[in-house]
Amino acid sequence: MSTGFKVIKPEELDKNPFISFAQEWPILTAGRIGAYNGMTIGWGGLGVLWRKNVATVYVRRQRHTFQFLEKEPFFGLSFLNKTYKEAITFFGSKSGRDYDKAKETGLTPVAFVDKAVYFDESELVILLKKIYSDDFKSGNFIGFDPSEIYPGNDYHRIYIGEIVTILAKE
Ligand SMILES: Cc1cc2nc3c(=O)[nH]c(=O)nc-3n(C[C@H](O)[C@H](O)[C@H](O)COP(=O)(O)O)c2cc1C
Repeated sequence: MSTGFKVIKPEELDKNPFISFAQEWPILTAGRIGAYNGMTIGWGGLGVLWRKNVATVYVRRQRHTFQFLEKEPFFGLSFLNKTYKEAITFFGSKSGRDYDKAKETGLTPVAFVDKAVYFDESELVILLKKIYSDDFKSGNFIGFDPSEIYPGNDYHRIYIGEIVTILAKE
């Protein structure tokens, strides 16, 4: 863990998920230093399930990040403030297949005790351990036509992660 962060409890979190996911967009990271990737996400949630504090993310299988998420037991969410908008947009529009996105944007990847990666510039970081994944299925939508969101039937894979550690910038 780099300096400048303190560990906080989920109860101390003052993030509003309707702002932090829908408007500010965290960077989801999976893999470890040397072999990881990150991408911007706009859909996700924080909550409680199976008596655990969890975060849920949704990733399409064509994302380069997908293979890291599949392989690794942990993933991270890095929340950066507005001054990093350009970097966040880059992480959400370019692929790790073509770019070292951290190098291109100047973000500093840091090892999360050899389990995952986060960015030092974050104001908040959540480390998660995967506890469940599944794909959305066309037959399971109720009163909602998803064809506009999934014209190619490329349904997201859902990952539920148990919150392991939360780091807040001091
Ligand atoms: C604001 C924003 C939100 C996004 N949210 C998601 C998301 O929740 N799930 C997803 O699969 N892709 C999402 N994307 C798209 C990926 O970030 C984008 O395709 C990225 O380039 C994938 O990078 P990768 O190929 O290196 O994994 C979002 C993009 C933006 C700009």
